[in-house]
Amino acid sequence: MCGIAGYIGDKNTPEILVEMLKRLEYRGYDSAGIACISDNSVIVYKDRGVVSEVMDKPDRKQIHSKVGIAHTRWATHGEPSKSNAHPHVDCTGSFVVAHNGIIENYRDLKAELIDKGHRFESDTDTEVIPHLIEELYAGSFEEAFRNSLDKLRGSFAIAAISKNEPDRILIARKDSPLIVGLGDGENFIASDAPAVLPYTKKILILDDFDYGIVSKDQVILKDIQTGNEITRDIHEIQWDITRAEKEGYPHFMLKEIFEEPTAVEDAMKTLHDVEYVAKKLKKYQRIYFLGCGTASYAGLVGKYLLERFSIPSELVLSSEFRYSTVNTVDENCAIIAVSQSGETSDTLASVKAARNRGAYILSIVNVVGSSLTRVSDNVIYTHSGPEIAVASTKAYVGQLTSITLLSIYLAKELGRIQGDYLNEIIDDMHSLPDKIRQILSREDKIKELAEILSEKNIFLYIGRRLNYPTALEGALKIKEVSYVHAEAYPAGELKHGPIALLEAGVPVVAINPNDDLMEKMDSNIQEARSRNATIITVGENCKIETPVTDPMLSPILYIVPLHLFAYHMATSRGLNPDKPRNLAKSVTVE
Ligand code: M6R
Repeated sequence: MCGIAGYIGDKNTPEILVEMLKRLEYRGYDSAGIACISDNSVIVYKDRGVVSEVMDKPDRKQIHSKVGIAHTRWATHGEPSKSNAHPHVDCTGSFVVAHNGIIENYRDLKAELIDKGHRFESDTDTEVIPHLIEELYAGSFEEAFRNSLDKLRGSFAIAAISKNEPDRILIARKDSPLIVGLGDGENFIASDAPAVLPYTKKILILDDFDYGIVSKDQVILKDIQTGNEITRDIHEIQWDITRAEKEGYPHFMLKEIFEEPTAVEDAMKTLHDVEYVAKKLKKYQRIYFLGCGTASYAGLVGKYLLERFSIPSELVLSSEFRYSTVNTVDENCAIIAVSQSGETSDTLASVKAARNRGAYILSIVNVVGSSLTRVSDNVIYTHSGPEIAVASTKAYVGQLTSITLLSIYLAKELGRIQGDYLNEIIDDMHSLPDKIRQILSREDKIKELAEILSEKNIFLYIGRRLNYPTALEGALKIKEVSYVHAEAYPAGELKHGPIALLEAGVPVVAINPNDDLMEKMDSNIQEARSRNATIITVGENCKIETPVTDPMLSPILYIVPLHLFAYHMATSRGLNPDKPRNLAKSVTVE
């Protein structure tokens, strides 16, 4: 939620900040702002709207400076408006702050500050921070900053500047991501790596309770609680800038769907890590998959895969797990946390709570060095590369690939799969990228179908067992990017209620793999057909045709046309699938 950026160096700061914000926009896009120091005063330029609407204006281009911070917002406290847009300043116009996260005790702090005579301009929680710094300032920006942090409860990634000390940006982190991009005679602050990638590949990743003093030639990191200096490793970003650009595609979502074959190949490269982790996992009596949204559906596929090998497991949504299931967790439990970003607040909180109760934590994550990886005993990276579109697509395919590998290697460890069959599955997995390319080569047909159905305002997705999660993911994607109501049900449940929604022309997307449940699926399809629903089957010899595969791998193949379908539904309805309303890519708040 929200992207923050900062720059200090000899280049023209506003231009760099705007470029950085455009690369962070997937984190929020209801308003944008920059704050710079110029001629000994703080200049704030901000408004409601996406970055280009707010920033590509002649008066903004008049601002020149060598230090500044910036923000692109996903509203939590206060509606999207100019006054609620960040950065926020104190009463004297000396201190200015951009923040990502939630200050939970802001009401109390605000009341105290108002009593002391501070004037507030916004409804945000963030605005207490510059006023706190103002209140606590006694000649040292750093001291006032650190003392302010001490008063904050909740989550924060903060960047702050002061006209009193224009040679530095102060930063801090707790439960919201923040990195420093290291340049030569210049440094960059950002919520995520794509923002700094045009300028540097070297980054420092702040840990919880770190704060820092960033000047153009130096970065000093310290511990918020002790004030002692600390060191963090320098990471080298492994992927190229082009991976975070559209490369000729009209939208990131489409580009990322076309990267799904590579997502399988990249996830397959971690076979060695998977084998290692499977050996550790085998000793646990209870396995819980955790995740939110799309990541939770990948976890649900994991549960069905393990059940195929008679290994019990559960998928629990992170937002529920942390307040209930966690009470049943102990050292006999293993948690498999699935997350693209590795920053999802509910997943992180659940993992920390389970860890406190002695559980073993394995995370399946895309973003290297993200918060989740730092609270896990082991990590399997999916290596899907940056996923910029808010709707997750290739990351899901990467997660499914890693989870499938993990399931079969755990089955091997437990003696539940024959060596020959395991080898067959691995061979089949190696053929998946080409099979996905075949599906993608038929994009036109899927586009045509989406155009025909684009006016429909309700969809039903049905699937059984391993492809019930496919139905869930297909339906979520339609909801997210097309704003069409879509329900997903296990096909056997249709007759227990949702069949009442069916009438002539209601589209029913039926995921129909060639397995032992095919006849059951056929019966469910007939039930829908008898109510004159429009049936769209997905599978071998189906309306949306997929290449032949082992049914175990069908979730990886079958989701591809459904991702494409959702994309084309959105564009047929004149919507921008990269920026769905009300959503943000990383949900770092509860
Ligand atoms: O970064 P994560 O994988 O933890 O994110 C989990 C969900 O927030 C995410 O999958 C969300 O549901 C996407 N918008 C789905 O497209």
